[in-house]
Amino acid sequence: MKIAIVKGDGIGQEVIPPAEKILRHFLPGAEYFDVKVGYEKWKETGTACTDDDIKKLKSADAILFGAITTPPDPDYKSVIMKIRHELDLYANLRPVKGDGFDIMVVRENTEGLYSGIEEIGEERSTTLRVITRKGSERIAKAACELAIKRGSTKPVVIGNKANVLKSDVLFRDTCIGVCKSYGLEYKTMFIDALTLDVLMQPSNYDVIVTTNIFGDILSDACGYLTGGLGMLPSANIGDAHAFFEPVHGSAPDIAGKNIANPIAAIRSAGMLLDHFGYCEYAALVEKAISASVSMGVCTKDLGGNYGTKETGEYILTEIIKEEKSD
Ligand code: NAI
Ligand code: MG
Repeated sequence: MKIAIVKGDGIGQEVIPPAEKILRHFLPGAEYFDVKVGYEKWKETGTACTDDDIKKLKSADAILFGAITTPPDPDYKSVIMKIRHELDLYANLRPVKGDGFDIMVVRENTEGLYSGIEEIGEERSTTLRVITRKGSERIAKAACELAIKRGSTKPVVIGNKANVLKSDVLFRDTCIGVCKSYGLEYKTMFIDALTLDVLMQPSNYDVIVTTNIFGDILSDACGYLTGGLGMLPSANIGDAHAFFEPVHGSAPDIAGKNIANPIAAIRSAGMLLDHFGYCEYAALVEKAISASVSMGVCTKDLGGNYGTKETGEYILTEIIKEEKSD
């Protein structure tokens, strides 16, 4: 297995090493290689991500990614969007876990309002919202597979706005068809009411599938239910590639101080393990994180006074302890 490591900028440089260390602990036989992209690279070379970088990323089975700072260039095109597009990472998975709830937001990652088809004018600007049967089908399948893998006892919720957006009729009905073909229970909900209800009654939900921008907003809103940005991991999955990254950015305000919370990055490594079938390793990662937080071994954002490095080391020590007690 080949794993590309992209630390990126700012706190990406600090939170990825402890996450990589944990990956290497579980998968010592994998081949690891660094790929440099981002603002620092842009300052040195004028390009944030080259075609050669994309080629290297494509050669990996999995990518662990930190975060990158947006270069101050008016012509700058998002590196993340480029990678998602080039590697066809169509499923954005954002787990939101807390006391009594365990939700997985499955967001379509390649079309919808992020189609990139736009006409910008002085008096009128438009963005074309594209929904295809193929795009809806493959994201619905990803959601159903996850519901089965998670042993979900709740219906797959299809977040949509088909009452107003005719394009969402195709999305909703395609998702319903896929759920039926898997023999899974499903429920359709309008995205606005759904967002409010998830925040009020998170324990009623498990897998939620929705279109691109709805999923972006819903999953960020769900961040409210957990301990904030330093806790949230994510995965971007395609048929040939898989990309794992914390939800947070490069946090220049706290970079270089050894105070960034490494848990979102470590959880992203846990999602990588889980994705490749190492579910028991992923469970150990979660267990060790819980132990570390409940012992108060955590960074400032969670009320602790441990550094990024020290927190990461403690979590690895907990993992090793758990393995010995098994
Ligand atoms: P941000 O997520 O970097 O930071 C927002 C706030 O949360 C800051 O106050 C930061 O200190 C705090 N924070 C973030 N992660 C933390 C952690 N692990 N531990 C403790 N505190 C943490 O978002 P912001 O400030 O909007 O963006 C900063 C840069 O990151 C920008 O250049 C932006 O474009 C980029 N960015 C990159 C992303 C990516 O590479 N996927 C995603 C989001 C932003
Ligand atoms: Mg967002």
